[in-house]
Amino acid sequence: MAELKEISPDAPVGAKLMNWVDNRFPATQLFKEHMSEYYAPKNLNIWYVFGALSLLVLVIQIVTGIFLTMNYKPDAAQAFASVEYIMRDVPYGWLIRYMHSTGASAFFVVVYLHMFRGLIYGSYRKPRELVWIFGCAIFLCLMAEAFMGYLLPWGQMSYWGAQVIVNLFAAIPFIGPDLALLIRGDYVVGDATLNRFFAFHVIAVPLVLLGLVVAHIIALHEVGSNNPDGVDIKAKKDANGKPLDGIPFHPYYSVHDIFGVGVFLLVFSAIVFFAPEAGGYFLEYNNFIPADPLKTPAHIAPVWYFTPYYSMLRAITSEMMYVLVLCVLGAAALTVLKGKLAGFFKAAVLGSAVVLIALMLSIDAKFWGVVVMGGAVIILFFLPWLDNSEVKSIRYRPDWHKYLYAIFVINFVVLGYLGIKPPSPINERISQIGTLFYFGFFLLMPWWSRIGTFKPVPERVTFTAH
Ligand code: HEM
Repeated sequence: MAELKEISPDAPVGAKLMNWVDNRFPATQLFKEHMSEYYAPKNLNIWYVFGALSLLVLVIQIVTGIFLTMNYKPDAAQAFASVEYIMRDVPYGWLIRYMHSTGASAFFVVVYLHMFRGLIYGSYRKPRELVWIFGCAIFLCLMAEAFMGYLLPWGQMSYWGAQVIVNLFAAIPFIGPDLALLIRGDYVVGDATLNRFFAFHVIAVPLVLLGLVVAHIIALHEVGSNNPDGVDIKAKKDANGKPLDGIPFHPYYSVHDIFGVGVFLLVFSAIVFFAPEAGGYFLEYNNFIPADPLKTPAHIAPVWYFTPYYSMLRAITSEMMYVLVLCVLGAAALTVLKGKLAGFFKAAVLGSAVVLIALMLSIDAKFWGVVVMGGAVIILFFLPWLDNSEVKSIRYRPDWHKYLYAIFVINFVVLGYLGIKPPSPINERISQIGTLFYFGFFLLMPWWSRIGTFKPVPERVTFTAH
């Protein structure tokens, strides 16, 4: 046991209390390690507030979720009415519910911006691979959390959205139908589905999410934050071992983040109070109609944050499979002809390509749509090993890399837009091209990220006082 630290009997009561606590729990030490003596680069910009904002939204979702649970009924016969009860009769129920529904969209807004920051500054690269991987796992959990939460109001969109997505699992060969049955707990989405989604939404997934967020931040504080220059601040330290370009997180960045929180809350409140449905994007109009298993809505689309992936799912038609087969053939031919592989490995590549093509032509395109949709998220995990660029930050990359990132964003937004729209031949074609671009961006990154004239990276971070 560590020795108890003594404190002067004349010390103020607060100091005595802190000493008492510190002798039993390392509160001051933790505060120093993670706040007042955590040295963050002095050149962090506005892109760096989205981590703190994600934390804020997480807290908003948990707190409002707890209060919603007090009056919500996870029962197919009562769920819809219990939400209406919360909206009309529970004191401030409308506020709690609108904060939760707006919070879901806000979560994805801030997390997408947070991920984009990582992408442009190369924050996923050595030594931050685990920070990124924990982040990707958080993103997966967030998607599961949002999907299951959406069933709970038991409106038409809740019901049919869940029906469509769970049915996708049935497309998996051999185990699919049983897996879909296991997820639903019934042959159609029903009371059993609602109960298990409720359990996952209120406790199982949030627990995992919280654990992952803690791991994400511990990993980040182990290696230190990256910055817009992608320069390692730990490489240059003063006589006391403090990074020359580092400043204590608290108070410098805690104040920075509080300002960000202020601006965020202004926008968030404006939506909660004046436009909680956000034109049908945050709360879909069809979801104000109770779930009716006998009446399929004419147009089923997920909420906006899922639509880029939904577009990719819809892009994989049986016609598109031929294009994908050509891509596999091309990749295998290139590897065999250009790759510096031993004869055995070349044969293995060719063999795998033949097997894959045989599977692609024999299993229904719907299944490959599911693979592509899942793959679009899973591929993010591999980003640290796909990027071969000699610099981290976009600032020192060739200019055309910037245009490529801009096209990537536009493509993602267009895919998102198309995912909301009803299918049409032209929309289908555009989403197919968009899907190829999305995967091409990542899969060809090992090659293109090395090409071009890179700018010299400064030794120290660039910073002008403001
Ligand atoms: C609930 C969701 C999340 C929370 C609460 C969260 C929280 C944070 C916080 C507080 C930071 C430090 C401040 C900052 O750099 O902005 C951070 C950094 C980071 N996060 Fe997240 N994060 C979340 C999701 C994600 C996701 C989905 C990814 C990527 C897939 C991600 C990747 C990163 C990376 C790479 C850094 C280091 C950035 C750098 O040093 O340049 N995070 N996160």
